[in-house]
Amino acid sequence: MKIIACYSNKGGVGKTASSANLAHLMAQSGHKVLLCDLDPQGASSFYFRLKPAKKLSEDSFFTDQDKLLKAIKGSDYENLDVLPANMDFRDFDIFLSRLAKGHSALKKALKGVKKDYDIVLLDCPPTISMLSESVFSCANWVLVPVIPSTLSERTLEQLLDFFTQHKLEKSKILAFFSMVQVSKKLHLDTMQRLGEQHADLLLNTYIPFSSHIERMGVNRAPATDFAKATPAAQHYLDLWRELATRI
Ligand SMILES: Nc1ncnc2c1ncn2[C@@H]1O[C@H](COP(=O)(O)OP(=O)(O)OP(=O)(O)O)[C@@H](O)[C@H]1O
Ligand SMILES: [Mg+2]
Repeated sequence: MKIIACYSNKGGVGKTASSANLAHLMAQSGHKVLLCDLDPQGASSFYFRLKPAKKLSEDSFFTDQDKLLKAIKGSDYENLDVLPANMDFRDFDIFLSRLAKGHSALKKALKGVKKDYDIVLLDCPPTISMLSESVFSCANWVLVPVIPSTLSERTLEQLLDFFTQHKLEKSKILAFFSMVQVSKKLHLDTMQRLGEQHADLLLNTYIPFSSHIERMGVNRAPATDFAKATPAAQHYLDLWRELATRI
């Protein structure tokens, strides 16, 4: 089982949109996939038409494997299950900071799902916190959407510094450009510069800014399903194909 965390400390960069579309494509290509919504906002659960996991508290998520397994729901798609979030997930950090082994708690919690899934995709909240540290330690890959603009670039640098300072494996980080508008010079310049600086961790495929992706909230489904013939869905398919060669 591989664990892929879709993560950025920056909010609104496309973590949830990417988690939902990639989870759908991974499942479509025959992998057994669990999309784990770690964000109390519950956006990826919402995209898959699922209600919040009522009986799963921050405590039981990390300590009661039966409850965690029971909270997993099937989706409308073959091979794709979802662990929906709820508002108790906002207390993950407080809970983890009280544990002696908070860093390894997520890895331990996910042990119970190991036999059932090929890929666990974590849709992470926009924080750099105890939960993130637990994510970094358990994930095989940390997939980072980067909008090619100044603040998003800065966040990527902060993440790389964080990995260096905490002696984490930088080779886990894979980044891709998100919400790209090729008509913007700033986007093109930033993509070229960062592409040269971080050739090792930047994927070649980018995700364009697309109204089809924005409409996922209206349709409550992945764009790779309801808009599969559009360029946006094709870019997600290319992203998944490229990712598959790296993981
Ligand atoms: N490629 C895209 N083109 C256009 N809109 C997009 C694209 N990707 C995401 N969006 C829209 O941008 C908003 C933020 O996207 P999303 O929720 O995926 O970001 P996020 O990083 O998960 O945010 P948060 O940090 O709040 O969890 C949403 O309204 C989404 O529909
Ligand atoms: Mg999100």
